[in-house]
Amino acid sequence: MTLEILAMNRFDPARAAAVDAETKALLDRRARTFGPASVLFYERPVHMVSAEGVFMQAADGTRYLDVYNNVPSVGHCHPKVVEAMARQAAVLNIHTRYLYDNVHTYAERLLAKLPESLAHLMLTCTGTESNDLALRLATNWTGGEGFVVTETAYHGNSAAVTAISPSSMPGRTLPAHVRAIPAPDAYRRPTNDLSADFAADLDRAIHELKTSGAGFAGFVADSIFSSDGIYADPPGFMQDAIEVVHRHGGLFIADEVQPGFGRTGDGFWGFERHGVVPDIVTMGKPMGNGYPMGGVAVRADVLQSFCDAVGYFNTFGGSPVAAAAGLAVLDAIEDEGLMENAKEVGTYLMGRLRDLARLRPSIGDVRGAGLFVGLEFVSEPEARTPDAALARRAINGLRDRGILIGAAGPFGNTLKIRPPLPFSRENADFFVDALDDFLASEPA
Ligand SMILES: Cc1ncc(COP(=O)(O)O)c(C=O)c1O
Repeated sequence: MTLEILAMNRFDPARAAAVDAETKALLDRRARTFGPASVLFYERPVHMVSAEGVFMQAADGTRYLDVYNNVPSVGHCHPKVVEAMARQAAVLNIHTRYLYDNVHTYAERLLAKLPESLAHLMLTCTGTESNDLALRLATNWTGGEGFVVTETAYHGNSAAVTAISPSSMPGRTLPAHVRAIPAPDAYRRPTNDLSADFAADLDRAIHELKTSGAGFAGFVADSIFSSDGIYADPPGFMQDAIEVVHRHGGLFIADEVQPGFGRTGDGFWGFERHGVVPDIVTMGKPMGNGYPMGGVAVRADVLQSFCDAVGYFNTFGGSPVAAAAGLAVLDAIEDEGLMENAKEVGTYLMGRLRDLARLRPSIGDVRGAGLFVGLEFVSEPEARTPDAALARRAINGLRDRGILIGAAGPFGNTLKIRPPLPFSRENADFFVDALDDFLASEPA
């Protein structure tokens, strides 16, 4: 049974551990204002007051190591990002229908990091908006309505994007224009040729869409497959699939909301690991380090055709303050060597976790790239039975040890290890030692 994405590590008042009076008061206010739409982490929700670098500070004085957040990617409250935003907000903040400089400096710098064929950049405010726009670009270009995604994909929260996010509707039938294929999971579906298998699944799904009359507009994939459970290896496994997409006349939309901006350590974008060139790249989360920024990089011909038909305007996307935040993020990644750090510390971290896995049979698999690592808990190592209950205990047990972390994957048994990029070896050691300590506390 696939777990709904918002259900993972969700605070459940019925199962709540005892909380102090102040937390209880905040929970009550939240229940009154947000009602049932409120989603909180942990059995005992954490009340945060500040954050800096890779740490977050709670109201009760506890300092947590953040092993979860890819939004404050260059570090929480990065002083240069904060300063750039504040400075720009005090001078000019308007929308993109006037001329101003910094947004073009931003677009030039970002486009220089993308394949040449992605000639233009459109700016939005969220990953959802970016994917929503990508769907419109693809349907306009191809004349098809159909999209293929992976089985536990999450791409955002608008109506059109929820329709291509199977993890948001487990147990429900996908809309007729959407087909989901299995994630490229070599751990649970061992294969000699992951690339060919993945491509064959995609080919079948596209044929189905074409026969159904929906046609085929595109394949949307998060190139690190984060909500599916994090799959990075072997590098290049997306190549056959992307050939299939193009053979069928569709577009490949690379959702870089999670792996983009240096996280995987191999390259600025997750798709680079696979040596493929997308037709559209969507981005969000880490782009503004907490300032709401998203973007779509797109081929010139695809954009021309869209603008001939409809065009696009986004009131807040690409404002001078957004551009200032985005430029400061690019500076931090470059000046502080954060992509190189992701590779170096990520490799070290994965090595330590694999050493731990040799001692702890409940760790079935450790995989990933750079500072995006998945760790699967299993109850029967031979059968690889997913152990979501252990993952849930680990998340709460690590919180008790000063660490914030979450889960991913169809069963919710995979720890999603995704810290801000300035994560150090010392931080990695603290995390692995705490995980070891937690596992030692579990009944044998
Ligand atoms: C891969 C992926 N794409 C898109 C989104 C949506 O981004 P946002 O929440 O900024 O709309 C998310 C959010 O978690 C995501 O993980």
